[in-house]
Amino acid sequence: MPRPIKLMLLAALLLGAGTAAVARAPAAKAPWWTHAVIYEIYPRSFQDSNGDGIGDLNGVTQRLDYLQKLGVDAIWLTPFFPSPNADFGYDVSDYTAVAPEYGTMADWDALVRAANQRGIRILVDFVLNHSSDQHPWFKESRSSRVNPKRDWYVWRDGKDGGPPTHWPSIFSGTTWTYDAKTDQYYYHIFLPQQPDVNWANPGLRAAMMDVARFWLKRGASGFRLDATPYLFEDTAFPEDPTPQAGAPSWLKPYNSERPEGHGVLRELRGVLDSFPGNPVLLGESATAGIDGLRAVYGANNDEINLPMNFLIGNMTRLDATAFKARSDEAHSRLGGNTPVFFFSSHDHSRQWSSFGDGANNDQIAKLTATLTLAQPGTALLYYGEELGMGDMPTDRLKAFPLGPKRPTADERDKERTPMQWTAAANAGFSTGAPWLPVSPQTGTHNVAAEQVDPASVYNWYARLMQLRRDTPALRDGAYVPLDSGNDNVFAFARLTPEGQGALVVINMSATIQAVALHGLPAGAKTRRVLAASPVAAVPAGTNFSVAPYGVVIADLALTPRR
Ligand code: NOJ
Repeated sequence: MPRPIKLMLLAALLLGAGTAAVARAPAAKAPWWTHAVIYEIYPRSFQDSNGDGIGDLNGVTQRLDYLQKLGVDAIWLTPFFPSPNADFGYDVSDYTAVAPEYGTMADWDALVRAANQRGIRILVDFVLNHSSDQHPWFKESRSSRVNPKRDWYVWRDGKDGGPPTHWPSIFSGTTWTYDAKTDQYYYHIFLPQQPDVNWANPGLRAAMMDVARFWLKRGASGFRLDATPYLFEDTAFPEDPTPQAGAPSWLKPYNSERPEGHGVLRELRGVLDSFPGNPVLLGESATAGIDGLRAVYGANNDEINLPMNFLIGNMTRLDATAFKARSDEAHSRLGGNTPVFFFSSHDHSRQWSSFGDGANNDQIAKLTATLTLAQPGTALLYYGEELGMGDMPTDRLKAFPLGPKRPTADERDKERTPMQWTAAANAGFSTGAPWLPVSPQTGTHNVAAEQVDPASVYNWYARLMQLRRDTPALRDGAYVPLDSGNDNVFAFARLTPEGQGALVVINMSATIQAVALHGLPAGAKTRRVLAASPVAAVPAGTNFSVAPYGVVIADLALTPRR
């Protein structure tokens, strides 16, 4: 069917639906990442291949068949570069090398080759706001005030016998550390071991762009960009007027989302766009509202292709009205750009724990998976969430001794425990002693057990990912908001220009709920259930009920209006 006719047909269907907010369906030749599933791997915890208790690149290669079977399009690997591990890899001391604990450059090459053969791409974590204080650039910078790399970092004189300002660091304490050798302070929005680089310096800027080129030439299909809001500071260094009216604690106007940051992101995007294969930027862009999120894509959609939607990702309460509002705006107010849905990461509590009520956690995990996977947009999964992996109980973590593999404890260790492959010792993660303890939940939630259980969380994810690939409405269909007539139920439809449809209904409460749907195109009829948990009959008409925490995805037959 010619495209204009298709569009007229869609317009007719949507007129029937009487909708206000509708996402643009991906264009015919949309780049690979437009509706991809990106799977975040924390390499230290995924698979250990050499028995030292620390996961590594060869471990990831060994598990590619698993990821291919699950239906993953790309992997985001958190940092595997040389690092003193003050922040487990997010303090990089060499941007263009592999840390020996994770393997070698040859292992990286082999991973890329094996992944690409399976149709899986690899994204590298680019920590572009700061380096390690052990990076040779910083060592030079701190060596003297006249060193050519002095200005590659942010140095200032103290004031009134103290730091230049009293700005709070995102981690703890102040953003300034005094360096006695040169009698100045250096700036760090995170740990003192993570000095911020100075993006205003052309030499630093060029060196960072070369880092991007290095990994793109070496087979990376793009980057996950770390901490993008913090690239620049107000160089007048105003004092922090506390409390900062209207600004979240992690987004202060003097050092967050500064306008100069857009230039860096545009330049970086230009570097990516000069490579073949549509490499992509996935951004850690924790903004305060939908307009802030829209801005990170770039005024001309020329900055971050895929900024993560923290407005939904940070939600921790099952509130259907709030999820509907945030989803509706993600599909209508991002200027036709691709929304990115996620709930868990190496910085976030696992969703099985953050949303679970203790009695229905697996069912709730399926529900949140549906929010991520059934909407149009890119889905970001965190390793193990497809099993319903939960956070490690903190008392167990506290009892686990520190040592050379885990010199410091981090509150976020609870969501970084080893991947649960089997119920055997060390969960099949390692033949040695793992760097973090294996979760007590491993006996019931592991790959081996869940792959053979049709009702498992794993099989729910695998089913949704298959539907996402193979069902035109769930692959290409535009988002059509629906009114469920019930504040506990979030419902939406997916419609393609060809008239294929799907209905998605999610009960976010612990009790059975009655639905009275409004907003479906006239004449739309549910034909069969594509996926439901718990098992459910085809919803009859527009009035039906949904089980506690129940999810129903049904095929919709549509009759275009004449
Ligand atoms: C965000 C990363 O995801 C987090 O793990 C890290 O600690 C900070 N940025 C600093 O790099």
